[in-house]
This record gives sequence, structure tokens and C-alpha cells, in this order.
Amino acid sequence: MPLPKAELHLHVEGTLEPELAFELAARNGVTLPYADTEELRKAYEFEDLQSFLNLYYELMAVLRTEQDFADLANAYLARAAAQGVRHAEIFFDPQAHLARGVSMGTVVEGLWRALGSSEENHGISTKLIMCFLRDESAESALETLRAATPYLDRITGVGLDSAEVGHPPVKFREVYEAAAALGLRRVAHAGEEGPPEYITEALDVLGVERVDHGLRCMEDPALVERLVRERIPLTVCPLSNVRLRTVDTLADHPLPAMLDAGLMCTVNSDDPAYFGGYAGDNFTAVHRTLGLSEDRLRELARNSFLASFLEDDEERRAR
Ligand code: HPA
Ligand code: ZN
Repeated sequence: MPLPKAELHLHVEGTLEPELAFELAARNGVTLPYADTEELRKAYEFEDLQSFLNLYYELMAVLRTEQDFADLANAYLARAAAQGVRHAEIFFDPQAHLARGVSMGTVVEGLWRALGSSEENHGISTKLIMCFLRDESAESALETLRAATPYLDRITGVGLDSAEVGHPPVKFREVYEAAAALGLRRVAHAGEEGPPEYITEALDVLGVERVDHGLRCMEDPALVERLVRERIPLTVCPLSNVRLRTVDTLADHPLPAMLDAGLMCTVNSDDPAYFGGYAGDNFTAVHRTLGLSEDRLRELARNSFLASFLEDDEERRAR
């Protein structure tokens, strides 16, 4: 029995496995510039975040209809359930779809076909977090929030992702204020490739309750002290960090040092189809390679529920 856990850092578009990508391409008459799944898998050699994002956005071309988004989410939920995931807070990137002429309604209603019945079908409760692309303009983020207004009953929070360096959190002050006024929860990627100052800014300017990645906080002892004191959860993604070369090897990963410092870390998969593993695979990897004890793994699993946006009674049921 895998350890029950919550997945808090998961981009639904990053769960697109090569087999499903080709199936959807055929269904929608989209031609991919790869002969087959084997050739596509060979493209999964990343230098950094941007080289991954290029492929991630390219493959999204196969996602066109509500059913495509439903199939994508259902395939993820089935895999996650097998790895002990009981609750998933799922990111999606509406701007990447709106730019291709796919509407907000298609994306949200499509995902909802899977998420709305996930508890019955997969034993996983879910929440949706809409991310803004930080390499797009602040105005585009505001337009995206406006486009989401009819679907806010399905959306729990907002996040910030895509190319980090050069796009500091402060650029999105206004849209985060507007999101807060609408009652949305707030998270942001910070300190993945960007400097520790972006983490501070995400907390102070955007009012985030959780930091996605946050790894580079380790360069700033005063920031670590603050994150510990304020119990700010960090959604760490070990296999992602290796594949995007944020760390040299898994054995060099700072997760043990982060836990020793008292940081409230969780372990997550980020873009599992691209980075070599789902939530359980990340737990197994940190257990085997970093030597984290069973107690540490249980602490990480407990943190994942505590750091989630579940209400107390929902949280107890999920665990
Ligand atoms: N970082 C930033 N943006 C992303 C990621 C990531 O790991 N995955 C999908 N969009
Ligand atoms: Zn991410």
C-alpha cells in the first residue's frame, strides 16, 4: 500500500504521456514533428526550464476539445491513485490554450468532466489552480482572470508559472490583488531558477500562502528562518529539479537539509510525464537516493495534507 498523500504541485498539461499525445493528435488531425512515441521520448533531454517549456507548449497542440482535457485529467488521476494520491491540487495554464483558440470554457469544463467524478472514480478529491504565465504581460494575466469569472465555482486559486528569471512576482501585483478580492487562494512558483528575493516578493507582494519549488531559499538563512517561523509550505519537486538541472544529481538535492532546517516541505511531481515519475515515484526516489527515513516520508505525507487547501473535515477524510 503506497503512503496516502496529497499532490500539491502538478501541471495537468505536464501529465501528457507520449502515447496519449499521439492518440489525441490522430483524433484531432494534428501532425506532431516526431515519428513515434520513441522519437518523442528522445526529446526529453532538458538543459534548463526553458528547454522543457518549449516542448511542453509544443505538445499542447493536441489538446483541442473538452473530451481531450477530460481524457488527460482522467489518465493522470488513474496513475496518481495507483501511487497513493488521495487529494490533488491541479494547475492548468489557460493562456497557453487561449492563444491557440481553445476557450476557457473548453478547458475548465473538460477538466471538470474528470475532476467532478474523481472521488467516485479514483478516490481522489481535487481542486483546480489557474496559473498565469509569467513570461506573458500583466495585462494578459488580468484578461485571463476576467475570462475565468464564469468558472470561479470550479477554481480554488491562482498560481504563477513558466519562465521565471526576469519575470519577478511584483509584475503580477494587480492580478493577485484582484484574485484575492474574488476569494481565490494564492500560490506562485518562486526560487526554482529565480533568486531568493523572488520568494520574499511572492510572500510580501502577492500574498501567497504556499511557495512552489522555493529551493533557492537555502541561499538566504534569514529567509529560511522566516519560512520556518511562518510555516510557509514549499512544494518541492525532486525529479523535476534533476531533469531541469536545478540540481546536479538527486544525491545533491537539498531536501534533507531543508527538512533539517525545519522547513515545511512537501514532495510533488510537477510534470510527471516529462520528468520520469508521479508522486509516489518522487517519494521512492528521495527514500532510496537521499536516504530519507520512513519517519521523514510520513512527515512529508502529513505535510502534504496540512499544506493543502482542504478544509479540516475534508482533510481528515482524505488522510
Ligand atoms: N516551472 C515553471 N513553469 C512550469 C513548470 C515548472 O516546473 N512546469 C510547467 N510550467
Ligand atoms: Zn511547476
